Amino acid sequence: MFARMSADIVAIKERDPACTSTLSALTNYPGLWAVWWHRVTHRLHKAGWVWLARAISQSVRHHTGIEIHPGATIGQDFFIDHGMGVVIGETTVIGRCVTIYQGVTLGGTGKERGKRHPTIEDNVVVGVGATVLGDIIIGHGSKVGAGAVVVQAVPASCTVVGIPGRVVVRQGQRVEAVDLHHEDLPDPVIEMFRTMQHRIDRLESRLLRDEAASEEEGRPAFPPGITDTETKG
Ligand SMILES: CC(C)(COP(=O)(O)OP(=O)(O)OC[C@H]1O[C@@H](n2cnc3c(N)ncnc32)[C@H](O)[C@@H]1OP(=O)(O)O)[C@@H](O)C(=O)NCCC(=O)NCCS
Repeated sequence: MFARMSADIVAIKERDPACTSTLSALTNYPGLWAVWWHRVTHRLHKAGWVWLARAISQSVRHHTGIEIHPGATIGQDFFIDHGMGVVIGETTVIGRCVTIYQGVTLGGTGKERGKRHPTIEDNVVVGVGATVLGDIIIGHGSKVGAGAVVVQAVPASCTVVGIPGRVVVRQGQRVEAVDLHHEDLPDPVIEMFRTMQHRIDRLESRLLRDEAASEEEGRPAFPPGITDTETKG
């Protein structure tokens, strides 16, 4: 047990540059307290002490801002940084060396029963405020970007961002996306005005050339009945 607790502290020191000592990890990381208490409540839950386990986990939530259902299965070296607003549902399964940040929800869609929460495989990072919903698998080594909402399975070694979550990096390679730069799309009204302006410029210069030629030849610049003012508007 002490080896596991010590590994939890090492995980914090490795993954958070702000953690400078064991004392700091023990006293300033509510994520650590929540994980340690979860180990207690998980055992109680499995032993059938469901109400007591839940009551303790709610008390832990009150003190840490982190709600982990006692039924959730969590692997070694799990690190919750900051923690406030984290919710981990009953049938969630979390592998080893997983990191999650504040405001993360690993929840159900509200439509299923039984296994209805995500499975997070080893070495996954779930960014601040991300939401992962339903009985889906986030594959080994993948990253869920801050603020993403993921409702479909993510293969291993991918980065998924946005709402709904879409894979933008797969096995270290950028995934080409549809060009959604709306600001670069042509504006048809402006294009029409540009074309009209171009034609007016050409007509004006042609008119001026004709006028000059007529003056040189000593003939009237405009046909009888059309005045200079009418042509220049
Ligand atoms: C997703 C993340 C892990 C980066 O992963 P990565 O594999 O290195 O991906 P990249 O940085 O190469 O980004 C890939 C693309 O996704 C975009 N992107 C990255 N993070 C994003 C996010 N959270 N939301 C939307 N788009 C994001 C990038 O702009 C980039 O887009 P582009 O291809 O158009 O340039 C990182 O951006 C992130 O969100 N980390 C969470 C950290 C966190 O929560 N910290 C809390 C500290 S308190």
